[in-house]
Amino acid sequence: MKALVLAGGSGSRLRPITHTSSKQLVPVANKPILFYGLESIAAAGITDVGVIVGSTAPEIEAAVGDGSAFGLTVTYIPQSEPLGLAHAVLIAESFLGDDDFVMYLGDNFVLDGITDVVEEFRKDPRDAQVLLTRVNNPTAFGVAVTDDNGNVLVLEEKPRKPRSDLAVAGVYLFTAAVHEAVRAVEPSPRGELEITDALQWMIDQGMEVRSTVITGYWKDTGNVTDMLEVNRTLLERLEPCVNGYVDEESEIIGRVRIEAGAEVRRSRIVGPVIIGAGSVVSDSYVGPSTSVAENCRISHSEIEYSIVLRESSFDRIRRVAASLVGRNVKVAVAPGLPATHRLVIGDHGHVQLSS
Ligand code: G1P
Repeated sequence: MKALVLAGGSGSRLRPITHTSSKQLVPVANKPILFYGLESIAAAGITDVGVIVGSTAPEIEAAVGDGSAFGLTVTYIPQSEPLGLAHAVLIAESFLGDDDFVMYLGDNFVLDGITDVVEEFRKDPRDAQVLLTRVNNPTAFGVAVTDDNGNVLVLEEKPRKPRSDLAVAGVYLFTAAVHEAVRAVEPSPRGELEITDALQWMIDQGMEVRSTVITGYWKDTGNVTDMLEVNRTLLERLEPCVNGYVDEESEIIGRVRIEAGAEVRRSRIVGPVIIGAGSVVSDSYVGPSTSVAENCRISHSEIEYSIVLRESSFDRIRRVAASLVGRNVKVAVAPGLPATHRLVIGDHGHVQLSS
């Protein structure tokens, strides 16, 4: 069995972060979201992985390399434009050959991994199998109607009037039967070849599409709110450990990980929190559900429920919450009076100030 991981796409809902960085490489608990997916593929015993890459290919390839760090052998498959999930299967046909495969959307997060569903498919394969999860906003997803045995009867992509609350989570298992299906479908109203339509085509041809409803935690991390939520979930399972330097005037409370080379001075850290290598927190408060990546500076500031990417700094800022801050960002107080906000923000940035 092979895996096909989708790591293209423009990440429009995560702008401006995704103007300069791939959405699949935004870190949660200081590790790119994509890496959790690759790890769960390796844990399921799959080693041969095709990674679909788009305009952010150089960055993805630099981060994932040949896959050996994950115990995988990775083949990169360039997709010239984000033309849909079924298009990704279409261009991967020569890599996939006649093998069964799991397709994994690189911005999806499945807390319990995919080992069980891969095992089920290996033992008792159908033409295709999808992971479903109950959501309260089904109009944002592919939506399935199933019978009592979990066979999928109908699949609709982002229906205006959903016929169930069962959303298609971003993990699909296929036999080679899917190749005919992806050749048969036409572009959807959003101009993409939808895998949902390919699955519906399979059902219409009398093929069997089974579903597994996952009850564990799942998220599509397409927007900031979901990213922060996945970050919080992961930090709650963090192995606490202080490898960096913490001075005697600082207080570390709860589940906190301070990486080697990080420093905490005269500060209060209330977990779950991770502080990356080389970061310095001084005279500050870092509150629950915060990930600070490598080489950041947080001084005389307060921050909680946030993700800060590497090499960014906060100086005398109170107080930051529910924020996603990119790489090499500097947040400081504007000098002089009257009190002023001075902003140099990238395209599609958004800022909410307290006054
Ligand atoms: C895609 C699929 C959709 C699925 C979702 C899961 O949507 O088309 O059926 O429910 O992934 O994350 P997209 O992220 O392309 O809008």
